[in-house]
Amino acid sequence: MPVIHKLPEVLINQIAAGEVVERPASVLKELMENSLDAGSRSIEVQLQQGGVKQLRITDDGCGIDHDDLALALERHATSKISSLEDLEAVATMGFRGEALAAIASVARMRIISRATDASHAWRVTEREREPVPAALSSGTVIEVEDLYYNTPARRKFLKSEGTEFGHCDDVFRRIALARPGVGFQLMHNGRLSLRLPAGDAARRVREILGDDFLANSREIDAQSGSLRLTGFAALPAYARASRDAQFFYVNGRFVRDKLIAHALREAYADILHGARHPAFVLFLDIEPSGVDVNVHPAKTEVRFREARAVHQFIFHALERGLAAPVQAASAPAETEEPLRYAGPTEQVRMAVEEAPHDYTTGHEPTGFQFQGQTRSYATPASAPHRENWPPSRPGNVASPMAAAHDPTRPPPLGYAVGQIHGVYVLAQNEHGLVLVDMHAAHERILYEQLKHVLNGNPGVQRLLIPAVINASKIEMATAEEHTATLAHMGFDIAAAGPAELSVRSVPALLGRANISDLLHALLAELRDYPASEVIAARRNELLATMACHGAVRANRQLALPEMNALLRDMEATERADQCNHGRPTWTQLSMTDLDRLFMRGQ
Ligand SMILES: Nc1ncnc2c1ncn2[C@@H]1O[C@H](COP(=O)(O)OP(=O)(O)OP(=O)(O)O)[C@@H](O)[C@H]1O
Ligand SMILES: [Mg+2]
Repeated sequence: MPVIHKLPEVLINQIAAGEVVERPASVLKELMENSLDAGSRSIEVQLQQGGVKQLRITDDGCGIDHDDLALALERHATSKISSLEDLEAVATMGFRGEALAAIASVARMRIISRATDASHAWRVTEREREPVPAALSSGTVIEVEDLYYNTPARRKFLKSEGTEFGHCDDVFRRIALARPGVGFQLMHNGRLSLRLPAGDAARRVREILGDDFLANSREIDAQSGSLRLTGFAALPAYARASRDAQFFYVNGRFVRDKLIAHALREAYADILHGARHPAFVLFLDIEPSGVDVNVHPAKTEVRFREARAVHQFIFHALERGLAAPVQAASAPAETEEPLRYAGPTEQVRMAVEEAPHDYTTGHEPTGFQFQGQTRSYATPASAPHRENWPPSRPGNVASPMAAAHDPTRPPPLGYAVGQIHGVYVLAQNEHGLVLVDMHAAHERILYEQLKHVLNGNPGVQRLLIPAVINASKIEMATAEEHTATLAHMGFDIAAAGPAELSVRSVPALLGRANISDLLHALLAELRDYPASEVIAARRNELLATMACHGAVRANRQLALPEMNALLRDMEATERADQCNHGRPTWTQLSMTDLDRLFMRGQ
């Protein structure tokens, strides 16, 4: 019969260490968090051999008292909380009093520390726990060597030096991102790997994620009650094939949380498809009592008291931030006076507004004076002295789309002047030249408009002669199973033979699509899902498929009024500046850009 006995203290610690200390990177995380909790302004990390051989961290924090030094290595000894109330409102990174004890049980460890008011420093090691005098001007130095030297079974799980260093580097960046006010330095095998001077949030983000990330991001700052979300969220054009640029913090703590991940995915759902992952650095601030951080050994998961409210808040804050019409990033950031815009006459503006908004019909409206009138506004050639022109609006140039709501302003995307190779629409606006990817832009607009179709308000177009399309067995079965769903969306479909479907109506918005291609694609989307769930589960894919087939094809000749109608629809559509696949739908070349091309004024 097995006999029950108490485990020795060392073994207890080693078992506990298994949860806290998985690899050098987890040691680094605990030590950096301790340094931050101690109020450090500068933290230096030195690693040897991926942190397995040695990991040394030097800080300028408050230090540890002589009497506390030995205690710091004990389990369940902490200066950070002392009651359940403290735990429920914890604002420090640490609170368990576990980390140092755990590390000391699986590695050689040395702590030298000088408390702020002490006359000199003291030193302890994992073996010699009685402090002895040591030399250090301020702060704390902790050295951890030969991780898992005494637990060879665990040591085998460590990976190559490069891999372990990579994990340390991740931890280092994650922590540094959240603390821009603290200076950090990382050395590996005696070489400087990364130096981050104390600065502001944008600078730290740029240093860690690069200019490209920042240039393609929207700044987020939203508040609701005691919840606040700040940071940067990249536009889909920057989306990655992996999750390597996703940083989410709750009260300064990096977390991976299902609830948060879901809210973020939803917020990006409309503008990001397929296997792309969004990129973001976001900080959620919440009252400490509203979140439980004591649910995971590495503290990388949290539990929210008001989970639904937090989910909704994050989703809306981000969705709004991302949907905001084109911002200054895509507007020409001109420092000189913007070109004065001798806008179109009232007559022209009215004519443009009367233009049919169906630019897929290809019908030139009659009695339309637009073409002649475009010549009435200033062109670069007629503006030799534009430096002297009075500014048309004060200060920095605002978002082109933001001006869309002001009917007294010229439209942000200007007026079309022509089409290039049936692919791009060329327009002139206040700032210079606008280039639009016709198909991508139309696809984007349709995607937004088609949402009504999925909601059961399709606006049906009956076909004079039903379209008959060939269908495979599985397509026949899918069409039959999903008849009601398809009808809800505006498709009237019935079997016309063993391998034929007849289509009697389609959603009006898709009237121009190739019906056979559209239906084959839709049936493929519907195939693997039960009819009752398909709209909820495949919503984005369905919208994208329909938008793609409904959108004007490349090589379609558009008349100017059709192009202008497209521009006006873009201005009126949220998120119109990127297509459903996250590519940009238009771009601006300012007069300055154009002048530069011709070296004018240089
Ligand atoms: N760099 C440091 N500067 C000042 N004090 C420190 C430092 N590192 C550790 N301490 C002190 O040692 C104590 C024990 O640290 P340890 O990391 O084991 O526990 P903790 O941070 O309180 O909780 P947790 O286990 O959640 O990290 C801390 O409470 C703190 O008082
Ligand atoms: Mg700690």
